[in-house]
Amino acid sequence: MTKALCPGSFDPPTMGHVDVIQRAIAVFDEVVISVVDNPSKTSLFTTDERVGLLEDLFGDRVSVVSFSGLLVEHAADQAADVVVKGLRSIDDYEYEKQMSQMNQHLTGMETVYMTTSPGYGFVSSSLVKEVAKLGGDVTELVPPAVAAALKERME
Ligand code: PNS
Repeated sequence: MTKALCPGSFDPPTMGHVDVIQRAIAVFDEVVISVVDNPSKTSLFTTDERVGLLEDLFGDRVSVVSFSGLLVEHAADQAADVVVKGLRSIDDYEYEKQMSQMNQHLTGMETVYMTTSPGYGFVSSSLVKEVAKLGGDVTELVPPAVAAALKERME
């Protein structure tokens, strides 16, 4: 039985996140979505709001939790076997490779990467927020509940 942990900021969750999490659910026996709680980083949605959005999206197919501190310690607390992340580009790769190697060094935690499905390679939470803030249409880039939450937050 392999338990996978999908960590991220998810501020907000995008279709790119949904794609990777759905594929992780199909591959692994159990999936935990872990929302980072980083008080030194300004976020549009609170940690509880991000957890709530992900719970509404995935229902009881996964558990959604928040964490602070080191990812490897949280993964050990959750008894996760592997961390799963998405890769959009060579830039993601260079950054992710370093984090994966650090996590491997710290506790031996392995990271598995899924390349983003075609069509979501350009989608990031930061760009979605910028486009939404400037009045652009993000309805194809985020789930409907997230689009509604973004609209409300931007008003
Ligand atoms: O969605 P993001 O912002 O790319 O997620 C990054 C995240 C939360 C996975 C990363 O920042 C992280 O692992 N944070 C926990 C702190 C930590 O363990 N830092 C050392 C990583 S090598």
